[in-house]
Amino acid sequence: MNKIDTQRRKRVMSRSIKLGHCVCNPAQPCPCEQFKKMDICACAGERPASPNGKVELTKTVEKPGCASKIGQKFLKDTLGDLPHYADKNVLVGVAAGDDAGIYDMGNGTALVQTVDVFTPSVDDPYTFGQIAAANSVSDVYAMGGKPLTALSIIGFPVGTIPDNALREILRGGIDKMKEAGVSIIGGHSINDPQTKAGFAVTGIIDTKKIKTNSTAQKGDVLILTKPLGTGIIAFAHQINRASQKSIDASAKSMTTLNKTACELMLKFNANACTDVTGFSLMGHLKEMATTSKLNVEIIWDKLPWLPGVLDYAAAGMLPGAIERNKESSAHKVTTGKDVTETMADMCFDAQTSGGLLIAIDKAKANEFLARLHAKGIADAAIIGHFKTEGSGQIFIKTDNTRKLPEKGNNKKNESCCSSKESSCCGGDSGNGFI
Ligand code: CO
Ligand code: CO
Ligand code: CO
Repeated sequence: MNKIDTQRRKRVMSRSIKLGHCVCNPAQPCPCEQFKKMDICACAGERPASPNGKVELTKTVEKPGCASKIGQKFLKDTLGDLPHYADKNVLVGVAAGDDAGIYDMGNGTALVQTVDVFTPSVDDPYTFGQIAAANSVSDVYAMGGKPLTALSIIGFPVGTIPDNALREILRGGIDKMKEAGVSIIGGHSINDPQTKAGFAVTGIIDTKKIKTNSTAQKGDVLILTKPLGTGIIAFAHQINRASQKSIDASAKSMTTLNKTACELMLKFNANACTDVTGFSLMGHLKEMATTSKLNVEIIWDKLPWLPGVLDYAAAGMLPGAIERNKESSAHKVTTGKDVTETMADMCFDAQTSGGLLIAIDKAKANEFLARLHAKGIADAAIIGHFKTEGSGQIFIKTDNTRKLPEKGNNKKNESCCSSKESSCCGGDSGNGFI
């Protein structure tokens, strides 16, 4: 605790007592509980010492990472009819629902602007800072832009977690932004009970090379550049059931910039691009398919997953964010024979700092994929294609080349529960992969 300044304390407290309200928090009386119990007057600038040592960030928040986003459906219902004023320089605006806004500067160059802020998806503050940066610049890459500057936005619970965590979050952000060639030129922070961090990023783009969501072409192949399952792993970790291997692989994926994938996509002149984040593969693909007026087919067995995700999902570790994403997108999704409910649900997992989802001409797809692999983007995969003109329907089918582990088979669980009186599903579904 810092030193007590008795004069200052007297001055503030006499004011508070006279008013019958604490001047820092008018909802409480003076002397307040903290003063009575701990002899600390927050109004006089006194505060308890911050805790020391290591903090597990994900355990300090309700919803980790992009799962903290407000649901797409709620946003559309609540904000859908807000006015927007026409400006011919706005090439991509709010109405487009794209990854970033684009403003024409009139010389063949346009500004690209985006902001993303979320709660920790990993425990380590430095890694979280890196993820927040990689995730924020990703929206510029998803448009085909070149990010230049960023402003940091931080919410931090001063006094309840070690002070050093704040420093480490920003240090991670600065390092990752440097890797992206981005300068952090300012920022803003608030004292907030739930830690959060993110960046507002500004970039530039050649107006002829803008990659919107809405320009996928019939017959285009769909490529995803990072494995899925960051939401499922974060949830498994919150309930202490994720393996270290899963946690590490997820962190590595989330801290990886989409820079190289973006550069290659521009070189191959892909037709459309978005990044997969909080609204899940289905949510973001739905946007692309709907605005491109095409129906799309996904082969579930081709989807790249982070290690362990199939096991966690099979054991029922599907976080609540999946339900919110289904609310906004499930009406567009149908599944084929042998695609179980769990297999489909996994496709609604909220991703933090996910990969680019790219629509590219079929003739270039294999060479593009080979180049991605050669550049170290090892999990990039062709996951489906745009089949017919339509209203943006997504069809998930399976070629039966990959199965979920037995434990998670829904039918099996149903029958085992109905045949025994105890809650056997919960009992037999886990523990094999702690
Ligand atoms: Co995006
Ligand atoms: Co975003
Ligand atoms: Co400010």
